[in-house]
Amino acid sequence: MWTKSALFNAALASVAVGAPAGFPASGNGLWYSAPGLIWSRDYLPIGNGFLAAMTPGGAAQEIMQLNIESLWAGGPFQDPTYNGGNKQPDEQAAMAAAMQAYRDGIFTSPTGDIDDVETLTTDAGVYGSYVGAGYLISTLNVTGAVSNYARWLDMDQSVARVTWTQAGSAFTRETLCSNPTQACSHHVSVSTGTLPPLSLRLLLRAGRRAPHTQHHLPRLQHAPRPGDRRHTRHALRDPRPRAQHRRQSRLHTTARHQRRATQRDGRRQRSRRRKAWISWVGGTEFDQDAGDAAHGFSFKGPDPHAAVLGLLSGNGVSSASYSALRAQHVVDVQTAFGAFTLDLGQKADLGTSTDELINAYQIDTGNPYLEWLMFNYGRYLLGSSARGALPANLQGKWALDIANPWSGDYHSNINIQMNYWSAEMSNLDVMKPLFTYFEVLFSLSFISCCLTDWLFRKNWAPRGAYTAQVLYNITRGWVTHNEMNIFGHTGMKGGGNTAEWANYPESAVWMMLHVWDHFDYTNDIAWWKAQGWPLIKAVASFHLDKLIPDLRFNDGSLVVSPCNSPEQPPITLGCAHAQQLIWQLFNAVEKGFAASGDADTAFLDEVRTKRDAMDKGLHVGSWGQLQEWKVDQDMPNDTHRHLSHLIGLYPGYAITNYQPAVQGGVMLANGTRTTYTKAQVMDATTTSLIHRGNGTGPDADSGWEKMWRAACWAQLKNSSEFYHELTYGIFENFGANLFSLYDPFDADPIFQIDANLGLPGAVLNALLQAPDVPTISTPLVITLLPAIPSQWASGSMKGARTRGGITVNLQWKAGKPTSASFHVDASVVSRPVQVVFGNKVVASFTTSPGLSKTVTSF
Ligand SMILES: *[C@@H]1O[C@H](CO)[C@@H](O)[C@H](O)[C@H]1NC(C)=O
Ligand SMILES: *[C@@H]1O[C@H](CO)[C@@H](O)[C@H](O)[C@H]1NC(C)=O
Ligand SMILES: *[C@@H]1O[C@H](CO)[C@@H](O)[C@H](O)[C@H]1NC(C)=O
Ligand SMILES: *[C@@H]1O[C@H](CO)[C@@H](O)[C@H](O)[C@H]1NC(C)=O
Ligand SMILES: *[C@@H]1O[C@H](CO)[C@@H](O)[C@H](O)[C@H]1NC(C)=O
Ligand SMILES: *[C@@H]1O[C@H](CO)[C@@H](O)[C@H](O)[C@H]1NC(C)=O
Repeated sequence: MWTKSALFNAALASVAVGAPAGFPASGNGLWYSAPGLIWSRDYLPIGNGFLAAMTPGGAAQEIMQLNIESLWAGGPFQDPTYNGGNKQPDEQAAMAAAMQAYRDGIFTSPTGDIDDVETLTTDAGVYGSYVGAGYLISTLNVTGAVSNYARWLDMDQSVARVTWTQAGSAFTRETLCSNPTQACSHHVSVSTGTLPPLSLRLLLRAGRRAPHTQHHLPRLQHAPRPGDRRHTRHALRDPRPRAQHRRQSRLHTTARHQRRATQRDGRRQRSRRRKAWISWVGGTEFDQDAGDAAHGFSFKGPDPHAAVLGLLSGNGVSSASYSALRAQHVVDVQTAFGAFTLDLGQKADLGTSTDELINAYQIDTGNPYLEWLMFNYGRYLLGSSARGALPANLQGKWALDIANPWSGDYHSNINIQMNYWSAEMSNLDVMKPLFTYFEVLFSLSFISCCLTDWLFRKNWAPRGAYTAQVLYNITRGWVTHNEMNIFGHTGMKGGGNTAEWANYPESAVWMMLHVWDHFDYTNDIAWWKAQGWPLIKAVASFHLDKLIPDLRFNDGSLVVSPCNSPEQPPITLGCAHAQQLIWQLFNAVEKGFAASGDADTAFLDEVRTKRDAMDKGLHVGSWGQLQEWKVDQDMPNDTHRHLSHLIGLYPGYAITNYQPAVQGGVMLANGTRTTYTKAQVMDATTTSLIHRGNGTGPDADSGWEKMWRAACWAQLKNSSEFYHELTYGIFENFGANLFSLYDPFDADPIFQIDANLGLPGAVLNALLQAPDVPTISTPLVITLLPAIPSQWASGSMKGARTRGGITVNLQWKAGKPTSASFHVDASVVSRPVQVVFGNKVVASFTTSPGLSKTVTSF
């Protein structure tokens, strides 16, 4: 005979074996059968770029952790004398002298390097950190055993959900952050019976320890009555007692109850309350438009109160029904994410929860469903964090603490770049806030001739122009270094000998390649003229002045010095990374000049002359490696996390599309000149990549270094090494919530978003490659399925983008394309394209607007 409890257990067991009702049938989501415990490993992220939230998926009580994108500690809000970590104006001559001395030291040193550049660095000062914004605690007054529990993230809709049964009622909670309204909403409902009293409290406090008790918390709304609506205003005080962080933040909430009136027994009665919801918005007085000299670099805008309230009324958040808000949100995310789709031939495994999927995952064996999920998740995380006013930081926009790891900042020697790897090719419209964060415009007064009168605005460029002068004695353009906050921290962030991190004036060069790529992919001339070209011209101008004659090898070339390969000694000259990047930047100047409308041919001539004269950063060393520095100091056992000197393999093209006629002419150690063949350069690159190891060096075991290696192996068309690195990274570095974890074996690991966002870039690079070329007349080679693993034998992608304004649809079976179509959406200039599969050119065409081409024979 069945007992009641046996029936109950049977019911529970049937729930536990499958994804919850309402989970996307395609499998495009993450689901779990227990609430999350650890923030970085279990909580599920939602966000709209402006705001973000991490949801543990509690039952009766949900404690959501919140973020506001501009909520930072530090900067001028903490110390009005903060100057972006720069030297004082009267130090300019001393810096020029120190720079000269360092250069002399490098040129004359027997080993071509020096020990420090300490004089050039500046103490970090009140650099600050991205800060957690607080918690929203949603408590239903219900007790009793919980059954039928499930929580999930629906990536088709960008909604986090929890369902459970308690005290005889079935509950559903939904949380979403909508980009069009810049608000987040939280909705709780019961399917039968009455919704118990719901209490909502907002706790404006950052910190690792989520509040477990509710005493002394500001009470926003308690058991709201039907129709009740209230706005509450809170000032966020600096969580650190020491810091005088004067910035204020406002969170505003509105809670509404829905009610129905029904006729019963001839008497009008209020029916049972079934649902309740709340929306919140937030902002700070941080204002990028006040990040320039004209505003005293205050970064301070008006009190955000009115603007934030305006979001509630102006965007219809207060007046719309929840279902209308959600419908608007779903249309928005499906438009934002849906332009591109990928199918890896995966079979959705709806019987296995996401934590079990990742626990069972094996290196090399892999699991196409999980890989597909993580690809979509990378785009989801980028789209949910980068569509605000600031770019996605080291944690996207999800951060818990008062001071977050690496300040939750913008590390610009791979990390911020990797964040955006998949954006252009997977047609995700997220680049503009990144470019605006740097911004340079031309002054209108110079329309007549040469666009050299710059308006440095927003975050990087204004202080960067100051740094160019005071630190480098260069009056053209602007410069930034590796670590960037939202207060224009452009100096070499130092204190002691920190050259490995601080001495990185190429950060803006690398970023400018994203600017160039955006134009190359979109062919959007109006944008190029207004925002892209001024940025690139200004950064290129700085580096024209910064390149100096190589007085060590005396080979007639121009080099950077003192330089560091990111995060590695020595401090030397002609670092391969810097030389390759600057060469690519100068090519971008030449390629984009005609479309810019700029008449400054003297600038173009100077770029061409110095580009031709500069060292190209490609030297083959004593053990057959591609040298990381112009001095041959590479150690074969160096398994450093960065692949800086292989930048030209991926994501760059100085190696991948090496042209002996353009980049050749290298002086060897014995004084003779040679020109490497393409094969020599590729062999040396492969040797270096092999020696660099699998991304588990003694220095770190993080996910991003494995994703970079995966992308590089894909570039070398080596599918087994590509898949090995990809699966190794997934196996090693991701948590139950699929967040990339810096220290995966830690009990409370650090979240670092770069591997999440780099993964889709690496996956794409195994399926479709169209790396940049030095000149527009060089054929753009589109390679189909260059490194496809056998696990993804059949599949398709729709809506992929390549350079040249081309949209690509591709289908494949048994590892071979069956159909590939190309459509030129926009084309500013006719350029030759070759489509390659295997080693065979399967189609060639010249771009022209509207051109379509379909290939079915391979
Ligand atoms: C700074 O640059 C200017 C212009 O190139 C040059 O004349 C001057 O000598 C430089 N200052 C120092 C201290 O090197
Ligand atoms: C919760 O419900 C219990 C039982 O109905 C009641 O005694 C208690 O006052 C309620 N608490 C709150 C905070 O509403
Ligand atoms: C690499 O080898 C050199 C010399 O053989 C040794 O001094 C150094 O410690 C090694 N480095 C690592 C990271 O093993
Ligand atoms: C210089 O070195 C290269 C490479 O080792 C060699 O091929 C060449 O013969 C050498 N030239 C002279 C003049 O020694
Ligand atoms: C990664 O490299 C280390 C060091 O060579 C090696 O011990 C380990 O087995 C490798 N792991 C994988 C999964 O490649
Ligand atoms: C891929 O790289 C590995 C390691 O270098 C090598 O053993 C293998 O032959 C390569 N495979 C291909 C197809 O090039």
